[in-house]
Amino acid sequence: MADHAELSARLVTELVEAGDLAPDWRTAFEAVPRHRFVPDTVWVEDGDRLVPVDRADDKTAWLERCYANDFVITQVDDGVPAGPGRTGREITSSASRPDVVALMLAALEIEPGMSVLEIGTGTGWNAALLAERLGSDNVTSVEVDLGVADRARAVLWDAGYKLTVAAGDGALGYPSSAPFDRVIATVAADRVPYAWASQTRPGGRVLVPWTTDFHNGALLSFEVSRDGAMRGRIVGNVAFMRLRDQRGRRASLDRDVHDEDRARRSVTDLHPYDLLGEYDVSLAVGLRVPRCKLIVTHHDDGAYTVWLVDPWSGSWAGLEYEPGADRFPVRESGERDLWREVEAAYRWWDGLGRPAADRWGLTVMPEGQHVWLDTEEHRIGP
Ligand SMILES: C[S@@+](CC[C@H](N)C(=O)[O-])C[C@H]1O[C@@H](n2cnc3c(N)ncnc32)[C@H](O)[C@@H]1O
Repeated sequence: MADHAELSARLVTELVEAGDLAPDWRTAFEAVPRHRFVPDTVWVEDGDRLVPVDRADDKTAWLERCYANDFVITQVDDGVPAGPGRTGREITSSASRPDVVALMLAALEIEPGMSVLEIGTGTGWNAALLAERLGSDNVTSVEVDLGVADRARAVLWDAGYKLTVAAGDGALGYPSSAPFDRVIATVAADRVPYAWASQTRPGGRVLVPWTTDFHNGALLSFEVSRDGAMRGRIVGNVAFMRLRDQRGRRASLDRDVHDEDRARRSVTDLHPYDLLGEYDVSLAVGLRVPRCKLIVTHHDDGAYTVWLVDPWSGSWAGLEYEPGADRFPVRESGERDLWREVEAAYRWWDGLGRPAADRWGLTVMPEGQHVWLDTEEHRIGP
C-alpha cells in the first residue's frame, strides 16, 4: 500500500501534468498533507446511496479518497445523518476537488502580504494552503457549522497554522478583520452577499461560485470598485454546495411529481441535448428561469426523462427522450408551464447570438445584484 507521501506526490504530479496547478502554488500543495485535514469518517457514493467509510475499518480506502483528484464528502445532513445507507442524504460539508482548489487559488491572484478571508472552512485544507503562502496572520476563515469549525481550527492549529477560524454565517463576512485584499468563497451563492464587497479594499478581488436553481457551475471573479460596488465575470466552471441560508428547497420526484394523469400534454422538436447538454445554454436558462430544478432519470434502453420541478409552487414538467426520435412528448402540471418557460429561455439565448459563459457578468451593490451581457449597460432580467 502506498503511504501518504507517495499518494500526495502522485496527486501533485497529476495536477501539474494536467496544467491545473500553477507553479507558484506547487510548493504549498507539496507542504500541506491533505489527509491530515480529512476526518476519520468520509462518505462515498454507492449507486444512489451515500455510505460511510471509516479510517479505522479500511485505512487504504480512506487514504486513497484523501489523495484522489476528487471531492471528499466529510459531512451529510448537517452532521445528523438520518440512518445507515439511506438515500436522499444531503452533502453538507466536503473537501473540494484538488484541481478546483488549485484553479480557484490561481484565480485569486494573491501576492505576499495580502490578507484573505475564506468563506466555508470545511476541513481547513484550503485555509492551510493559503496560510502556507501568506502566513497564518493573513488568513481568516468563517464556517457556519460549529462542529466543523471547531474541528478545522484544532487541526489547523495542530499543523502549525494558527489562523482565525470563526464559527458563524460567512454571508456576513468577518468585519473585525476587514478590510481584506481578497475574499474566496468555497461555498456557492445565487444572491452574492454585499458584505464581501464592503469588506474588501477597492481594487481587491472576490471569488464566488455562482449558482442558480437550474444550473450549478460558474466561478465569478469580481473586482471591488471605489464606488463600493463589485463587478465580476465568469472565469471557470465549478460546482459547490450552497450557503446554508440559500439552500432553498430540494426537488423530489416522489413528492413533487403528482397528478400525472391530468398533466397537459404537448410535443416538442427541441432536442433535450441541445438544451441541457451544453454548458453555455444551461447557464443562460438558469439566469432566465428561476425556481426550476432539473432532474434526469435514465431508463435501460438509452431512453431518459428530463424532469423540471418547481418545489415551491408544485409545478412540474417531464420530457420523454427515446434514441432516434426527433419529436419528444412533454407533460406539464401546475400553475407554471415549466417546459415552455425553459424552451422560451433557450430561444432567448439563441436570439442573443448564443453567448458563451464568459460574456455574462454580475454587479453586486448594497441594494442587490444584476446580471449583464458584455457590458453593465446591457442588463438582463429574469
Ligand atoms: C465545500 S465545503 C468547503 C471546503 C473547504 N474550503 C475545504 O478546504 O475543505 C463548504 C463549507 O461551507 C460551509 N458553509 C455553508 N454555508 C455557510 C455559511 N453561510 N457561512 C460559512 N460557511 C458555510 C459548509 O458547512 C461547508 O463546510
